[in-house]
Amino acid sequence: MLASLWARLVGPRELRLRARYGDWALVTGGHSGIGFACAEQLAAEGVNVLICARTQSKLDAAAAAIKDAHPRVQVRTVAADCSEQAGVDALIAATKDVEVGIVVPDAGLFLHGWFVDSDADELRRMLFLNVASPALLSRHFGRRMAERGRGAILLVSSVIGLAPGPYFAGYAATKSFVATLGETLSAEMAPLGVDVSVLVPGLTRTEMATPFLEVGVPADSPEHAARCGLCALGRKPLAIPLVTYRLSVLLQAHVLPRFVTAAAYRLIVEKVLRIERPPPFAASAVAAAAKPRSDAGGTPAGDS
Ligand SMILES: NC(=O)c1ccc[n+]([C@@H]2O[C@H](COP(=O)([O-])OP(=O)(O)OC[C@H]3O[C@@H](n4cnc5c(N)ncnc54)[C@H](OP(=O)(O)O)[C@@H]3O)[C@@H](O)[C@H]2O)c1
Repeated sequence: MLASLWARLVGPRELRLRARYGDWALVTGGHSGIGFACAEQLAAEGVNVLICARTQSKLDAAAAAIKDAHPRVQVRTVAADCSEQAGVDALIAATKDVEVGIVVPDAGLFLHGWFVDSDADELRRMLFLNVASPALLSRHFGRRMAERGRGAILLVSSVIGLAPGPYFAGYAATKSFVATLGETLSAEMAPLGVDVSVLVPGLTRTEMATPFLEVGVPADSPEHAARCGLCALGRKPLAIPLVTYRLSVLLQAHVLPRFVTAAAYRLIVEKVLRIERPPPFAASAVAAAAKPRSDAGGTPAGDS
């Protein structure tokens, strides 16, 4: 009895995801990073997975790896661009013949740098992929889960979404939307039998994090982040994978004034991403503002 209590406390937690939510899971961004880790761990639980991303060759390689490791599950791929309404529609159409019991809208785009210097088209794509796509997928599949009285949605935010992060303005705002959407849906959908949680990773070793990994910023593994998110389903609305990130969220959200957090982020990110200040597009205006104004009439101090 003691041994089984010990195993329950420290052993790998049995998630029984298939028994709780159903036979199929959909994971966007499913061929790499956190999305692939989620798909692989869902397959390990005996859940059939449908993975979506834009690049068919990478989807095929990921599907083969999952099938190799878990030959009893079915793996399907859907090549679709979820930064467009047509891509989301195509993805939904591709799931028509299966009952999706778990949805992980993981695909995301990370734009950084001066917000006003971002490419308008890229910004629009990021807004759709990070905000509209998870909202539309949650709406569509959440409705069907509610009709069946069971299901789970794991949204993917970021610790950056919980703080004012200069040079991540657009990205941070999209992840803030996801955190609020998920935490709110968690309360709204629980009485309908649908579990909603939000995975809030800090820096995680994936392609997206390359600029930070290159300068040696410590990071979590995608496998650990995914595990943390899947474990949260039905247990808690927000899951922050590492204790260091839990502490930093506590500091930035509840202890430090928001302007201090913003200033700290600005200093760190300027260093890591080598942000130019002033930026080239505003340098001449900044220089002009710093120059004594000859049309002001007076003699500038120290110039006499
Ligand atoms: N890595 C981190 O440090 C970190 C931290 C906090 C939060 N997150 C969040 O975690 C999630 C996963 O990030 P990750 O780091 O694991 O990413 P990743 O390894 O770079 O993978 C991104 C995945 O999304 C797919 N994708 C990108 N654009 C897409 C589009 N328009 N339509 C469909 N699929 C698309 C990519 O495949 P294709 O290119 O083939 O489409 C790829 O499979 C994101 O939402 C991210 O914001 C990451």
